[in-house]
Amino acid sequence: MPALNALSMGRDPLAFLTGLRDQYGDIARVPLGAETLYLFSDPELVREVLVTNHRNFHKGRGLERAKMLLGDGLLTSEGEFHLRQRRLAQPAFHRQRVAAYGATMAGYAAARRDRWQAGATIDAHQEMMALTLAIVGKTLFDADVEHEAGEIGEALATTFESFNFGFFLPFGELLERLPLPATLRFRKARARLDATIYRLIEERRASDTDRGDLLSMLLMAQDTEGDGGRMTDLQLRDEAMTIFLAGHETTANALTWTWYLLSQHPDVEARLHAEIDSTLGGRAATADDMSALPYARMVLAESMRLYPPAWILGRRALGAFEARGYTIPARSIVLMCQYTMHRDARWFPEPERFDPERFAPERQAERPKFAYFPFGGGPRVCIGEQFAWMEGMILLATIAQRWRLRLVPGHPVALQPIITLRPKHGMRMVVEAR
Ligand code: HEM
Repeated sequence: MPALNALSMGRDPLAFLTGLRDQYGDIARVPLGAETLYLFSDPELVREVLVTNHRNFHKGRGLERAKMLLGDGLLTSEGEFHLRQRRLAQPAFHRQRVAAYGATMAGYAAARRDRWQAGATIDAHQEMMALTLAIVGKTLFDADVEHEAGEIGEALATTFESFNFGFFLPFGELLERLPLPATLRFRKARARLDATIYRLIEERRASDTDRGDLLSMLLMAQDTEGDGGRMTDLQLRDEAMTIFLAGHETTANALTWTWYLLSQHPDVEARLHAEIDSTLGGRAATADDMSALPYARMVLAESMRLYPPAWILGRRALGAFEARGYTIPARSIVLMCQYTMHRDARWFPEPERFDPERFAPERQAERPKFAYFPFGGGPRVCIGEQFAWMEGMILLATIAQRWRLRLVPGHPVALQPIITLRPKHGMRMVVEAR
């Protein structure tokens, strides 16, 4: 039975987890190989794990895998070390700082938009990946990486796919140490990503200038409250790789799914266009426009409800704890699945329907906070949340000012839940002038 579970989890995790929730309710226990997993499907239980009782949890299974790519960066480190690194990186993500990135975001979006031609077919997923990669490279590393987007995208896809390999099987970890084709492909792809990251670090070291961006901050960081030691090259590499990857692939997926949803809902699209036109006319969007584009924010929020780029979170319990009268033993893995929770009819009636009105402020106030958690929560909440909202809204507005995107007839739309929720076959769309 556990092996069978492992296989169904590996084959179609979204259907498997939805089935578990439907069958067992808010707490579902799943023995999986040597581990015992609990799927929590209630907002209050999620709050308990991420916020109230967060000290009892570390990042769970999957961390070991993620570490093969990200090392000990912000996303994967724990405890004191994580706190220190988070403090160091935080200034790059302060609200005012993020507002200053707005011009770069709008500039890159306009340049890419202006390269498209009416009637052309594009892969919206690839386009969004290239755009968000260029933006994270420029804003946080002051580097031009747009021309490498193709190669980086391929390396990323390879590393992600090999993450899936054997992930939920009992001997998955062992499999990954063997020189199998999938492992070798993973190592080669990681080396490709490393090459870019180390190049950025070396170039900056050599130039010996403070450009005031995240990379300079990390390079110069000396933790005054901690041991005063500078980061080693490896630590720097791990942080840079983490931000570089976490900072573009998620937002690109959110936007890709948004273009798809808009193409299927012309009424929503028309209302979005009206808001963009009346707020911006033909001029470029800036950080100051964000509060004047409430519908754009609602559209993005609803898109991340149906297609949450981070679709599952896991934590390992350090000690036993009580949940709804059950004792959950120490070392259990707790899963919290945004995909299933965002489609729970208790909080989102007619959950399959795309309806941005759900995110009108008064409607939002009717739901428990953790019914919707695309950015996680508590001390490990996404450090890039403000960055992502700003980038999502500016890119959406800038592109929609000029174009509408239509799905190529017959293009298969399927979900690929690996680390993030990607469109399995990309998103082939035709560019139409508005
Ligand atoms: C739509 C876009 C994004 C989504 C949905 C998203 C989602 C998330 C989630 C759910 C977590 C928490 C993971 C956990 O608790 O296990 C997280 C953490 C993180 N995210 Fe994001 N993210 C997005 C954009 C970004 C951006 C733009 C950046 C950086 C530029 C970024 C950098 C990070 C980092 C460094 C962490 C780890 C934080 C920590 O543990 O201290 N993310 N993200």
